[in-house]
Amino acid sequence: MKIGIDKIGFYTPHLYLDMNKLAVSRDIDPGKFTIGIGQEKMAVPPVTQDPVTLAANAAYEILDEADKEQIDFVIFGTESGIDSSKSAAVYVHELLGINPNARAIEVKQACYGATAAIQMAKGHIALNPESKVLVLGSDIARYGLNTSGEATQGAGAVALVICADPGIMALEDKSAYMTADVMDFWRPVYSDKAFVNGKLSNEQYIAFFADVWEQFKQKSGLDLKDFEAITFHLPYTKMGKKALKPVLEDAPEDVQERLKANYQISTGYNRNVGNIYTGSLYLSLLSLLEQKEDLKPGTRIGLFSYGSGAVGEFFTGILQSNYRDYLKTENHNKMFASRKEVTVPEYEAIFEETLPTNGSTVKLDTDADPAVICLAGISENMRQYVNKLK
Ligand code: COA
Repeated sequence: MKIGIDKIGFYTPHLYLDMNKLAVSRDIDPGKFTIGIGQEKMAVPPVTQDPVTLAANAAYEILDEADKEQIDFVIFGTESGIDSSKSAAVYVHELLGINPNARAIEVKQACYGATAAIQMAKGHIALNPESKVLVLGSDIARYGLNTSGEATQGAGAVALVICADPGIMALEDKSAYMTADVMDFWRPVYSDKAFVNGKLSNEQYIAFFADVWEQFKQKSGLDLKDFEAITFHLPYTKMGKKALKPVLEDAPEDVQERLKANYQISTGYNRNVGNIYTGSLYLSLLSLLEQKEDLKPGTRIGLFSYGSGAVGEFFTGILQSNYRDYLKTENHNKMFASRKEVTVPEYEAIFEETLPTNGSTVKLDTDADPAVICLAGISENMRQYVNKLK
């Protein structure tokens, strides 16, 4: 039985910051951000968007009534969760009106969370072939104003429906993974900003990719020539390139050229959104699927997932015959085209506008946010969400 990705939804907030302008205001050569790091625009989440609403908006565009009936498991991968106890999946389950006879949980391992969710979903479908699983990867990446991580912030979510006989991509069985205790990135529960050892995280990412790729080759008997493209977790778009380069060295020239060209296409959306942590790898996959017009069904795509701390995994999928019919390319083109630019002072003000942590009540202006699903406020320590179309 084929199990894999049937639909992919994506949402990013309606505001963005131009990285050239951020560089100038920080007295940095813009080339560092646009070439050295590889980012053009950074999504800026208004206070009316949090990881729950981002995920719900991403899922909203793909779920039809049949999906809502068949989904019996909602798995939410995040590292910027809003509650240490209640899972973000329960809120999304309610906001979208999913079948009450469903499980709903949150999983965490930095940017690896959504991949863990997909692997769990595969097992669930193998046991329950009539079911569907909704996997969500949703985050707001916050390092702080004037920090070295500032240029690698972002916000957004990816939603995936996993089921039998999938429309987009069948996931193959062989997978290679590893865990090692590394303090390259972490966020203690008392902090709303991440702590990071940037250089160490780069080194570990590259080392994890080299390791799981070697393991994968041995387990599967496959080599680079068997891949149409390899997609990466992209904290910034230069990162995957750094990891791919040493591995490509032994490949024939034509294979190197193909993988390099397709890598570039797979960075398209990420370059204009920034880091979305758990959803980042799947945003890269989406960039490739929606932006490479001659990508052929039947070809194999590699996926490298890395979550600091750290867990890495390499796995693969085969594109299905009518995969294009399952994509929402038009919606995503419109979403990018209708975004509004903010100035650096406006971005800084939005960044500083945080929610109260002292139990006070707040009502937010959801009319200023064009998203269907918004955070409307907080009352008695409970977040109040609104689905404007429900
Ligand atoms: N034109 C072009 N490139 C330039 C440049 C310019 N004017 N100025 C600098 N660069 C290049 C540097 O050579 C470097 O390239 P390299 O990595 O290929 O050597 C790149 O820009 C970044 O410069 P660097 O000095 O290393 O930046 P930094 O000290 O500000 O740190 C990060 C960059 C990504 C480590 C930092 O933003 C960070 O910690 N981000 C969060 C953590 C993260 O995303 N980790 C990834 C693994 S999950």
